Amino acid sequence: MNVLMVGDIVGGPGRTIFARYVGGLKRRGEVDVVIANAENAAGGKGLSRVLADELFAAGADVITLGDHTWDQKDIVSYIGTERRLIRPANFAPGCPGRGFVTVETPKGRVTVLNLVGRVFMPPFDCPFRAADAILGKEPALGKVILVDMHAEATSEKIALGRYLDGRVSAVVGTHTHVQTSDEALLPKKTAYITDLGMTGPKDSVLGRDLPSVLSKFLTGMSCKFEIADKDVMLEGAWIDIDEQTGRARRISRIRERLEST
Ligand SMILES: [Fe+2]
Ligand SMILES: [Fe+2]
Repeated sequence: MNVLMVGDIVGGPGRTIFARYVGGLKRRGEVDVVIANAENAAGGKGLSRVLADELFAAGADVITLGDHTWDQKDIVSYIGTERRLIRPANFAPGCPGRGFVTVETPKGRVTVLNLVGRVFMPPFDCPFRAADAILGKEPALGKVILVDMHAEATSEKIALGRYLDGRVSAVVGTHTHVQTSDEALLPKKTAYITDLGMTGPKDSVLGRDLPSVLSKFLTGMSCKFEIADKDVMLEGAWIDIDEQTGRARRISRIRERLEST
């Protein structure tokens, strides 16, 4: 099974390259399932209903979120109605939506689990125990299980990867918007990368326009961060998984540039 996992989609430029790249893959039948983190797709802040629908139409099979989940108000009522849109499973009990979903693909059943870290992040429940609860108790998850660990600290992401090694097909990190070069198969054949990177404008500070971010650092005054628009790239990873066993065979990170046509 050919899985594409896409790093944080930022703003209009991120959505545009996602649609162009993933649309082409789907038309050519070169991918079996596409998972995208879209917590910054709405002008850098969260995801709206309209933009979630746009990303599904563009080829996302499952959308994951993170600490920006609730930035757009209409997501609160929408998330409970669209099962392919998930938010971290270790949000507080009672939050709308769900932290995992199982979807059917031409190559079989795929479960996607979204978690958020607790180190240098707002207070969330324990991601390790949240994963245990779902993997241990939920029936019918299938063999192929993909985890988006949305977290700041490399240590927490690496620890979660090792904790889940052999129990899931892949653990990929999101949130930092900076792709890491540590993609690997862990000892028990779970594919791993600390961060998928960003899908958006690279000539920026994490997707935001340089002058506005510099002004914030230099003055400490809050200001509106505009989304940058140059040097747009899609970052993520291809993961080849044996759908019979759920074990990963290979992981390769990607960085695709938007050609201006
Ligand atoms: Fe984030
Ligand atoms: Fe992000």
